[in-house]
Amino acid sequence: MKKSLYEVGNWSPTDCILSLGCGAAWWEIKQTMAQEAGELLLLDTNKDVLNWPDLDEAIAYFEEQYGKKATTPASIFHADAGQIPLSDETADQIWLLNSLHELDNLEAVLAEIDRVLKTDGCVIVEEILSGGVHEGCGKRLFTRSEIVGLFASHDLHVVYEGSKDEEADYIKFGR
Ligand SMILES: C[S@@+](CC[C@H](N)C(=O)[O-])C[C@H]1O[C@@H](n2cnc3c(N)ncnc32)[C@H](O)[C@@H]1O
Repeated sequence: MKKSLYEVGNWSPTDCILSLGCGAAWWEIKQTMAQEAGELLLLDTNKDVLNWPDLDEAIAYFEEQYGKKATTPASIFHADAGQIPLSDETADQIWLLNSLHELDNLEAVLAEIDRVLKTDGCVIVEEILSGGVHEGCGKRLFTRSEIVGLFASHDLHVVYEGSKDEEADYIKFGR
């Protein structure tokens, strides 16, 4: 059965959400416009895709679409997901939406997720779990068991998994 990101994450209006490898963050802005969060922290290495002019444009677009003002404060971090410039136990939810397969330094990334995630927090991964090659970026995609094993090595275990759409799946991890 398909579920929306909100049905999987069920974040509260006070939750701090950190999205790693968020790209232009249109999806994150749309999600938090539909369901307010306490804070949205957007992290990507690429300043050409993640920047304030484009983010302001996305916010304005969704404000018009939803007919209301954006209330979730957003921040931008141009940083490597393996060196997150945030304090320990900052995030209630960490999202890796179609980005995990692009991250080179997975051990460092997992150690940082473990550090920055609150004890009762969750991680949501969206990926195509084919084990093949991603058409867009040419990087190798994971299989489900590779991702589950990766997170298990940091004591993060599957609490939900299911389809996002015809292609991609969500896997939600908790401690
Ligand atoms: C396939 S894109 C996904 C973007 C967005 N989440 C989406 O679903 O459209 C992967 C993103 O990961 C970013 N990225 C790659 N390596 C990274 C790293 N080490 N740390 C942070 N971001 C990284 C890229 O710049 C790119 O924007």
